[in-house]
Amino acid sequence: MRIAVCPGSFDPVTVGHLDIINRASKLFDKVIVLVSFNASKTASSFMITERMQMIRSVTGHLDNVVVDCNEGLLAEYLKQTGACAIVKGLRAVSDFEYEFQMALANKKLYADAETVFLTTSSENMYLSSSVVKEIASLGGDISGFVPPEILDFITERLAGNIRNNERKS
Ligand code: PNS
Repeated sequence: MRIAVCPGSFDPVTVGHLDIINRASKLFDKVIVLVSFNASKTASSFMITERMQMIRSVTGHLDNVVVDCNEGLLAEYLKQTGACAIVKGLRAVSDFEYEFQMALANKKLYADAETVFLTTSSENMYLSSSVVKEIASLGGDISGFVPPEILDFITERLAGNIRNNERKS
């Protein structure tokens, strides 16, 4: 069985992530969407359990997709699960240097797995979890950016951030 891991912060999952997960599910027998720890992103908006729950609710239609979390090294997780690939979306040239560095480091740590890059669909080129969070926290409409099943949850939570900030200032 060919298992792929789609790792990310998913804080929160966007339609861009979902597009990559959908396409990966057609290429591999099983896809593990892995909510992972990114050392450079210290302040998250959603708890790991919430992020996993959001991904589960938008991938329910994909029979070969499961959701998990990992706070350790991705390479170790790949070894433990017998995964043969890491699948990542590439939006633009700006993503490339960072992703290339991670792919090489992961290859060094675990030579049996390959990193597979899927080019983001053109309509999602500009999209990121940070963009979603900024728009929602300023009261903007994020309905085109996140799957409909989780729109209200994200909107309410991030609108709560505006209210909290107003209280602080
Ligand atoms: O969605 P992100 O934040 O761009 O995803 C980055 C992520 C979480 C995939 C990356 O930081 C990662 O793989 N973290 C796990 C810890 C690890 O193995 N770090 C070394 C990567 S070379």
